[in-house]
Amino acid sequence: MIDLHTHMLWGWDDGPDEWSQSLSMLQIAAKDGVTAVCLTPHVYRLDRYKGDLAVLGRLMDEFRKAVAASGVGTELHWGAEVSVHAEVVRAIERFRFTIDATNYVFIEFPSECVPPGSTNLVYGLMSKGFVPIISHPERNTEFAARPELLHELVAMGCAAQVTAMSLTGEFGRETRSAAGLFMTHNLVHFIASDAHGAVLRPPVLSRAVEAAAKIVGTEKAWAMVTEIPQAILENRALPDWGEPTNPLRRSSWTRRLSKPWGKGRTGTAMGIAAGTGPGSGGGTGRETRRGTGRGRTRE
Ligand SMILES: [Fe+2]
Repeated sequence: MIDLHTHMLWGWDDGPDEWSQSLSMLQIAAKDGVTAVCLTPHVYRLDRYKGDLAVLGRLMDEFRKAVAASGVGTELHWGAEVSVHAEVVRAIERFRFTIDATNYVFIEFPSECVPPGSTNLVYGLMSKGFVPIISHPERNTEFAARPELLHELVAMGCAAQVTAMSLTGEFGRETRSAAGLFMTHNLVHFIASDAHGAVLRPPVLSRAVEAAAKIVGTEKAWAMVTEIPQAILENRALPDWGEPTNPLRRSSWTRRLSKPWGKGRTGTAMGIAAGTGPGSGGGTGRETRRGTGRGRTRE
């Protein structure tokens, strides 16, 4: 398994304080079956050095050396979890906080809202070639209450990550419910631990895969910790495991009109063929939206 969102770097943010704790986290992940991790330290939020990126660079070097000396065989990748703020597009363009040298970059919205202008922000990033990954939208109260907002951003081409402990219910029933809704509507693409320590928020994915399998089936649940994050590490388009659908999508007026005369008829009293009117979709939302967004391919 691949865990793309972790806070394993010691001494920088609200993750571990020292190397021994980072090492415990790596060992827990390895024991769980995780072979590759991406370290995604917070930037512009929760760091201990007022955003001093020179310190971050130094800590990253120390981490690499400690891992090399320890003999831990986990494959390491680097990214960041970038807190959304007014200058975030400029900051990402300047410092390229992407996962390795890919175009994928984690962005984190405040936990209680989706700020006005978020679609412009996403557009700004995408127009510069970045693919934003929305961190754990199920833990954002506004995305949970208004899933159409998440749908809009994902339909634009954002990826989204669901947190393992959200799926297992360890962040509460409401968060699990939002995670389930987003899973069934293809509004989140991969699972990551967002681990912060060895005890309270450990880097464990296997339990979440079990929970996800009950929602989307075993094959897709496994893809969410293997095939899909692997595509991100290789800077490829996300494999197509289903087009995003809007949980609040209403039937079009032509479809509603056609219902009293029965589905599947070739015509109605008003001469409207069931399911073929303008905007009716003529079937599933997936078919009508295929080819939009990032142009995902099944590989
Ligand atoms: Fe995080």
